Amino acid sequence: MKKEQVVNCQFSVWYPLFKKHTIKSLILPLPQNVIEYLLDDGTLVVSGSSENSYQRSQINNSDSEDEGDVQWSDDETTTVVTAPEFPEFNSKVQEAINSLDGCVFPKLNWSAPRDANWIALNSSLQCQSLSDIFLLFKSSDFITHDLTQPFHQCNDDSPDPVINYELVLRKWSELIPGGEFRCFVKENKLIGISQRDYTQYYQHISKQETSISSSILQFFKDTIQHQFPDEDFVLDVYRDSVGRVWLIDFNPFGEVTDSLLFTWEELMSENKLAASYTDDTTLQDGPAFRYTTSEVTVQPSPCLSYRIPRDFLDLSTGEDAYKLMDFLKLQKGQQEAEDSEEDTESAVNTP
Ligand SMILES: Nc1ncnc2c1ncn2[C@@H]1O[C@H](COP(=O)(O)OP(=O)(O)OP(=O)(O)O)[C@@H](O)[C@H]1O
Ligand SMILES: [Mg+2]
Repeated sequence: MKKEQVVNCQFSVWYPLFKKHTIKSLILPLPQNVIEYLLDDGTLVVSGSSENSYQRSQINNSDSEDEGDVQWSDDETTTVVTAPEFPEFNSKVQEAINSLDGCVFPKLNWSAPRDANWIALNSSLQCQSLSDIFLLFKSSDFITHDLTQPFHQCNDDSPDPVINYELVLRKWSELIPGGEFRCFVKENKLIGISQRDYTQYYQHISKQETSISSSILQFFKDTIQHQFPDEDFVLDVYRDSVGRVWLIDFNPFGEVTDSLLFTWEELMSENKLAASYTDDTTLQDGPAFRYTTSEVTVQPSPCLSYRIPRDFLDLSTGEDAYKLMDFLKLQKGQQEAEDSEEDTESAVNTP
């Protein structure tokens, strides 16, 4: 894979070319101080006020029960960490979000924080404010990858091209996972299509296999072929409930991109791809189409390994005040038990 291929897959490179065929989006340059904030490994402090005030009001509202014995802070030990504020950038982002009807899907030049959706209050990538976006971005290895090693796995030794980092805000759209497909294009030919959410079995895909495959091929020929600045690339598409195909994203043709139900070895090889997951329905000279065929093959979500236990998360974000109180009580109980054990031991040992 060449660095040039990665450069061409940046959102701001392809979006102006294919605007009519994809989800409405806005691109904002990412200021240097915001990049530094995103890369700062310190305590996760979310700039902006909406979530923080939400959490605080939840805690303050829990006026029942006996939280009176819980020490929320100890003046001598509390370190006050202030969140950086980016007022100018914040207002630009809020304006952009509002113009996209108030809910957006955020990305950087290439990646969305798909590995971090578990941390959000709504367990989704849907954002309504800059602080929602920061929480996801600061928790995502995929975002860090974009910022620190975008040319990882490139095999040319030319100097790294200069990247202007951008925040991409896409209008939130409820995409049905069974309608998403990844298309592999080599030498400007569509060679393979894979179901994107391969961990699930979707009955409609096997039923409509031929029409899905041919509508994607038609979309490719009419809209994409010879229009993208490269001849090898990976294209994500969405086929909606009325059969219209939409463009979702471009990705480099190489290992950095998940090959889903194909392998990169197969995709790179000169041999024609076999449609191994289907009955032999490869269209005459058309792409191989692979999808999950039975419920037996249903697998865990690929992003599960990025998660931490829900309890840890609730405790660290203070989202569940009662859980935090239980935890503190448990700690206190344990401490008291240890103290009384020590007392007994010293009493026994006393001559
Ligand atoms: N505008 C949107 N609204 C809601 N969900 C979206 C939107 N755009 C994308 N998604 C969902 O998020 C998923 C990931 O989006 P996208 O392909 O843009 O991210 P990515 O980081 O480039 O992923 P990959 O690493 O697989 O290429 C999509 O498969 C789709 O389910
Ligand atoms: Mg992508």
